[in-house]
Amino acid sequence: MKICFAASECFPFVKTGGLGDVVGSLPKEISRMRTGDKKKDKNEVKIILPLYKGIKALEYNIVFMEEFGDIPVAIGDKEITFRIFTAKLPDTDIDVYFADCPVYFHREMPYTDDPDEDERFILFQKAVIEILQRLKWAPDVIHCNDWQTGLIPVFLNTIYKWDKLFENTSVLFSVHNIGYQGRFSEKSVSNAGLSYNDYYNGGPLELNNSFCFMKAGILYSEIISTVSRTYAKEIRTAEYGAGMEAVLQIRKDDIYGVLNGIDTNIWNPKKDKFIASNYSVKDTKNKIICKKELLKEAELEYDENIPVIGIISRFAGQKGFELLFPVINEIMHLPVQLIVLGSGDKKSEKFFEKIAFSFPHKVNTYIGYSNKLAHYITAGSDMFLMPSIYEPCGLNQMYSLNYGTVPVVRNTGGLADTVIDFHKDELNGNGFSFEEQTPAALYHTISRAVNVFGDKKTWKKIMKRGMKIDFSWKHSAKEYIELYKKAVDKKNEILI
Ligand code: ADP
Ligand code: GLC
Repeated sequence: MKICFAASECFPFVKTGGLGDVVGSLPKEISRMRTGDKKKDKNEVKIILPLYKGIKALEYNIVFMEEFGDIPVAIGDKEITFRIFTAKLPDTDIDVYFADCPVYFHREMPYTDDPDEDERFILFQKAVIEILQRLKWAPDVIHCNDWQTGLIPVFLNTIYKWDKLFENTSVLFSVHNIGYQGRFSEKSVSNAGLSYNDYYNGGPLELNNSFCFMKAGILYSEIISTVSRTYAKEIRTAEYGAGMEAVLQIRKDDIYGVLNGIDTNIWNPKKDKFIASNYSVKDTKNKIICKKELLKEAELEYDENIPVIGIISRFAGQKGFELLFPVINEIMHLPVQLIVLGSGDKKSEKFFEKIAFSFPHKVNTYIGYSNKLAHYITAGSDMFLMPSIYEPCGLNQMYSLNYGTVPVVRNTGGLADTVIDFHKDELNGNGFSFEEQTPAALYHTISRAVNVFGDKKTWKKIMKRGMKIDFSWKHSAKEYIELYKKAVDKKNEILI
């Protein structure tokens, strides 16, 4: 099969969260698989991304495809040009194409609150189609990801419908986070060059008086997926649907939940290049070296009887850190140390800075983004905290499980699908979880975990259960192949 991934992030080029990890790893597994009719041919995979200012062109040998020159694209009344650059996804044969458009993509961050945010991603989505045209490469499926790619199936069915190249191209749209929907003003419809006939109260492009890219993606794609089974169910409820539940109801027969996998070459305690010492499920003793080095780095004292709780996160309402605020004094009375890496909303940044100041012997906080430190914390902590209000999949708890770092989580979305509470199921428990979105529930769960930590033999058993789980893409990539086939069949059905 021929699969094109269209996305706004891909590790190692650009990553703000788990989407980057997924787009940097799933294509590798898909391209290794053989699913052609004769089962002889490997899948052909390409990835298309925006060329943001932060992407290191020299480091990744990203080169200009001169033969295609400047390519014009209409954004409302404006004509904007972009250029195609290309590189290989590191350590693979996979071609990555970049849409280079400095007026839109040379900003401080991949995502902005600038008034032309709609234009930036309209340009990108048209560029995805224009790039495929220049390459004369018709994918069987374009795998779109989140709102930044929601208009691609709309464009294929409208502005680019004339192009026979895409006659047999279908779209799988993956929802990584329903909380970010790409909602813009009515004016954006003309920026996209689409017809106002589809923009009316309840129409396919409209959601609550806005032009909604994600709604369009959900309605126009052949198949929709999201990143865990539980989240696939949750988003069809008012509590988790963020206003999209009625739209999802329309497509209920075409929505699937596929748990994300992890890149076991990058996130693997046996071969992780960033950590102080490698270790494995068969021999965990070097994990202590990772803990000691992490504490040294954090300027905290090592004590084998005090568990280190790690946090690595974007700070956003979704992540549930506000549940910590009212019970932080009680938590600090427990024998624990806390090491935090993250950035985002100012309230959480201030909170974590303040507790590092108030409890200097127990807490260290790094505000910012550091891939190396993320690996260090994952390996060196005893527990990993993710009290998410909602979590479509979550990658950090899977990394932690495989590193023998026991997760403490709220039982939602992908966390519910990967973490089994030890006190609910002592034979299989690999972590600790709670239901209620309350500070008290969070506190009790942390203190349950701290108590079990005191029983070294039991703790080791819990750690090892997590380390043995196979979170590689092998299984989930197969599920995606089935969805790609479904998308192709669906397109044929519609044609008939
Ligand atoms: P989300 O995509 O909602 O942020 P995930 O758990 O799926 O949550 O993925 C988060 C990814 O981003 C993980 O790879 C995590 O290690 C990484 N990450 C988050 N914050 C930081 C940070 N401050 N520094 C380095 N990596 C981070
Ligand atoms: C989103 C979600 C996260 C998920 C990631 C990758 O950012 O918040 O739960 O793991 O996408 O799918």
